[in-house]
Amino acid sequence: MISGGRPLRGTVSISGAKNSAIALIPAALLAESEVVLDNLPHLSDVAVYSAILEELGARVSWEGNHMKIDPSNVVSIPMPNGPVKKLRASYYLMGALLGRFHEATIGLPGGCNFEPRPIDQHIKGFEALGATVTNEHGSIHLYAKELRGAKIYLDVSSVGATINIMLAATRAKGSTIIENAAKEPEIIDVATLLNSMGASIKGAGTETIRIEGVTKLKGCRHSIIPDRIQAGTYMIAAAATRGDVVIDGVIPKHLEALTAKLIEMGVGVEELDESIRVTGSDKYEHVDVKALVYPGFPTDLQSPMTSLLTQAEGVSVLSDFVYSNRFKHVPELVRMGAKIRVEGRSAVIEGGPLNAAKVKASDLRAGAALVIAGLTVREGITEVSGVEYIDRGYDNLVTNLRSLGADVWRQVE
Ligand code: EPU
Repeated sequence: MISGGRPLRGTVSISGAKNSAIALIPAALLAESEVVLDNLPHLSDVAVYSAILEELGARVSWEGNHMKIDPSNVVSIPMPNGPVKKLRASYYLMGALLGRFHEATIGLPGGCNFEPRPIDQHIKGFEALGATVTNEHGSIHLYAKELRGAKIYLDVSSVGATINIMLAATRAKGSTIIENAAKEPEIIDVATLLNSMGASIKGAGTETIRIEGVTKLKGCRHSIIPDRIQAGTYMIAAAATRGDVVIDGVIPKHLEALTAKLIEMGVGVEELDESIRVTGSDKYEHVDVKALVYPGFPTDLQSPMTSLLTQAEGVSVLSDFVYSNRFKHVPELVRMGAKIRVEGRSAVIEGGPLNAAKVKASDLRAGAALVIAGLTVREGITEVSGVEYIDRGYDNLVTNLRSLGADVWRQVE
């Protein structure tokens, strides 16, 4: 529930990155002793993943923002259903278990289904490493007598496929080269963990990643990078409410594409060492935004950005070149009075005030977009349902917004 119209003011600290955490947790399965992950975000997706690891036989303890994972007694039991269906990132079990046990059966992943999300590039990678991959009644079965290094050219630079292939290739015989690899900061984070575990991965963060297989990986301690998407969401919320917010504990370089667009609109953005200050103003210019792979504008901020662009003067065009159909937030924003039409892979947004309404989040970032929209509304109460999606990726959103002066609360039914 949001009673909007108040500028956000103050400081918000950002937790560890969700999209790193849910790859680092399964990556720990490759080790033969304890892995400690620091700066872990408190998210429902992380809780689900920790339950999956326990089901596989790992000992998991989660205190504060550290998670200890002892994978020494893990076995690759088939996981066709249950928690794997709740998460998109359960696909990382395929790479991790294939790497360690040469066999895995994992139900096709669930998660935020804003459009079909194929995993053909993951499978192509596993097959190139020598695995046989079959779809058995909606579960993917992977088996390899031996994993051997290979040269793999990804047709699309997929975050998930790059990480999954890295996971399996760490334990393959010989060298693997991933070409057209994704370059997102989360890829570097996973490679850093794997290298601390004893893997040999070079080039993460560039389009060519080289992996020399090793026979054994050990435990280690690793601190997760800050969540650039949560940080970006608060930057956008600060701008949309014409507030003044310091977003603390971030890597400003990870947010450059957003920072550039905000400045182009007329938002004040000041980058410090580990924080960013965003200062709103009364008038914003319309801009065109293209969501692309990193270092382009992130698709995960496309929906929140749609809400901000309703506050700009004139017509903005926001196109998504990663997910052509990620516009389920648009009809909900239209219910709030937004003038937006979707044309192909673009949303055409005409600026104007929004009004309070009852709206529904259909995925994580759509939920964030609706909350931001609600924060801009000057009269009435905006009711956002489907908040379980928001819990998947935003650590303490309501508490954080309240600490910044927003009038937001959770109504338990
Ligand atoms: N794609 C294929 N085949 C594949 C894999 C991907 O065609 O085998 C296509 C996808 O359909 C999409 C594009 O490639 O058009 C990029 O998809 P990618 O594989 O990079 O996405 P992902 O790994 O499934 C992760 C994040 C998403 C984020 C994208 C893009 C996780 C669990 N999810 O998904 O995060 O949008 O990368 O950056 O890490 C979110 O946090 O809200 C979220 C959806």
